[in-house]
Amino acid sequence: MTAWPRLAFGGDYNPEQWPAEVHDEDVALMRESGVNLVTLAVFSWALLEPSEGHYEFGWLDEVVTKLHSGGISIDMATATASPPPWLARRYPETLPVTEDGRTMWPGGRQAFCPSSPVYRERSLGLCRRMGERYGGHDAVVLWHVGNELGNHNAWCYCDVSAAAFRRWLERRYGDVDRLNDAWGTNFWSQRYATFDEVLPPRLAPNFANPTQQLDFRRFSSDELLDNFVAERDVLRELSPAVPVTTNFMVMGHVREMDYWRWASEVDVVSNDHYLNAHDPEGYVELAFSADWTRGLAGGQPWMLMEHSTSAVNWQHRNIAKRPGEMLRNSLQHVARGADAVLFFQWRASRAGAEKYHSGMVPHAGTDTRLWREVVELGDVLQRIREVAGAGARNDVAMVVDWQAWWGAELDSHPTQDLVYLDQAHTLYRALWERGVGVDFVRPDGDLTGYRVVLVPTLYTVTDAAAESVRRAAEEGATVLVTYFSGIVDEHDHVRLGGYPGAFRELLGVFVEEFAPLRTEEKVRLDDGTTADLWTEHLHLRGAEAVASYLDGPLPGTPAVTRHGYGRGAAWYAACRLDDDGVSALVDRLLAESGVVPVVPTRGGVEVARRTAADGRSWLFVVNHTAEPASVAVDGHDLVTDRPTDGALEVPAGGVAVVREG
Ligand code: GAL
Repeated sequence: MTAWPRLAFGGDYNPEQWPAEVHDEDVALMRESGVNLVTLAVFSWALLEPSEGHYEFGWLDEVVTKLHSGGISIDMATATASPPPWLARRYPETLPVTEDGRTMWPGGRQAFCPSSPVYRERSLGLCRRMGERYGGHDAVVLWHVGNELGNHNAWCYCDVSAAAFRRWLERRYGDVDRLNDAWGTNFWSQRYATFDEVLPPRLAPNFANPTQQLDFRRFSSDELLDNFVAERDVLRELSPAVPVTTNFMVMGHVREMDYWRWASEVDVVSNDHYLNAHDPEGYVELAFSADWTRGLAGGQPWMLMEHSTSAVNWQHRNIAKRPGEMLRNSLQHVARGADAVLFFQWRASRAGAEKYHSGMVPHAGTDTRLWREVVELGDVLQRIREVAGAGARNDVAMVVDWQAWWGAELDSHPTQDLVYLDQAHTLYRALWERGVGVDFVRPDGDLTGYRVVLVPTLYTVTDAAAESVRRAAEEGATVLVTYFSGIVDEHDHVRLGGYPGAFRELLGVFVEEFAPLRTEEKVRLDDGTTADLWTEHLHLRGAEAVASYLDGPLPGTPAVTRHGYGRGAAWYAACRLDDDGVSALVDRLLAESGVVPVVPTRGGVEVARRTAADGRSWLFVVNHTAEPASVAVDGHDLVTDRPTDGALEVPAGGVAVVREG
């Protein structure tokens, strides 16, 4: 397959927003800053096919030629992300419809129904033309299908979608009685006589059927994946040597697509990440996202397809990055497996809804701190490029799942305040602060060899996934399960006989009732920590109590338990512990399992290691603090090109990448 440049550096390039003379300056500036890859034509459909079946590629040909002669490689989009206005005018049935029946009109972007056969036909038509025209071009090293599939239009409730949903359900269940059983439709007079009666979970007078909601999410993820696969297959036919990707959104609260299902369909995993600028320590969530993306890539390198040089334009207040922050963020991604550092976008727009979004070339031009930092970043990536291709493997696994996420946050639950990623983030932060690396694993994934296995809020769990976690403990891992895990099967049916059904035997506990707390209520534990939000009426069935409640609804009841199991152990946190409680728990898990940090550091100094197949390794240090940091490591710092002589000094806010040994 064609190789894309590594480490890749660049971003989304939207030359159609600028006159031709700017394109010459663009290529010159790209060369000056070390840009070697740009993503082209993401939102160009309206210019490439200005009316149905009438194509105009001339302007794009010119840009491709300019980039090629400048030595810049191209990640060519199929340009199908956002249909042109004529599509909606001519085929209004392609427009997406919300849960409450409102049409989403053109004028923004991505106004199409994922199940629309018209959208499918017209987008594949354009994709084919793109493949034919650019598939053999030397500059095109990667295909980029659509853009952030599922952003803005993941769920469509229109009649076309309803029919597609019914077809999907027929394939899943075969006959309607199996659907009735899976959805539990004897409840509330919901029983269906035929598939024709079934609808997407449109706005209803009371809670929608939870399994219908879950299946609709599965269907919606599959529909968009189908669009991806259809375009990918056209490209594979026309341009077999060029790998195909699409940019995922593993970040923050974005949860629409089940990327465990998507990951095996792309030739290279790529991800977009934007910092939550309101969180002064948003870089911890960045690391979480990057590690999860590496999990999707099977521990191998992946591409950071988009992040921002500075502020975005879509948060409540859009905070500019501080000096050095862009470099630190970029290196965090590389430390965690990215072989590409790309931005949205190359040149900040002059018009349109994203004109206040930062770019690599700001409105103010090149006599700016931001541009100087872009040039510096290009230089650093050059100096550390030998890390490309190296993967990472850690001793701690965290089991995460989109289906459990969807399930855990359904309405009609014991509390609306339970957030699926809450415990995942808290545990991750404690490990991040200790310099302990984490790998993200799918629920039925391979846990062999992990010394600690974390299972936060894995609400929906299949028998296979429960068995995989059990086996990990049996074979010697220290497993931690947190509250509201293992509660239901894949149909959202409660596993009976005491919670948490799927893990009861493993954990050696029996829970007779959930006991969520009142807003603001806290309970004290006998180890001096506290819990809020969630407690459980738990009995020991083989496990020992590690900590119990002193007060609240269940004084004397175990809150944290440990059960020796096989060659390992299974711990349970039945409540939402405060940060001290999580810290203490993590220390005990690490001590019990013998897991140690990548290298010891102090708070706010991030460390991560990449290791090549031949055993060479690189230690990344990102100092997020205002004080210099010193780290014990032998090797050569590629950023400063100096030997470390056993002790590396990383300046306040600085970065280092040490070839170890
Ligand atoms: C992404 C999108 C880009 C751009 C960016 C702004 O979601 O893929 O096209 O809009 O956000 O932050």
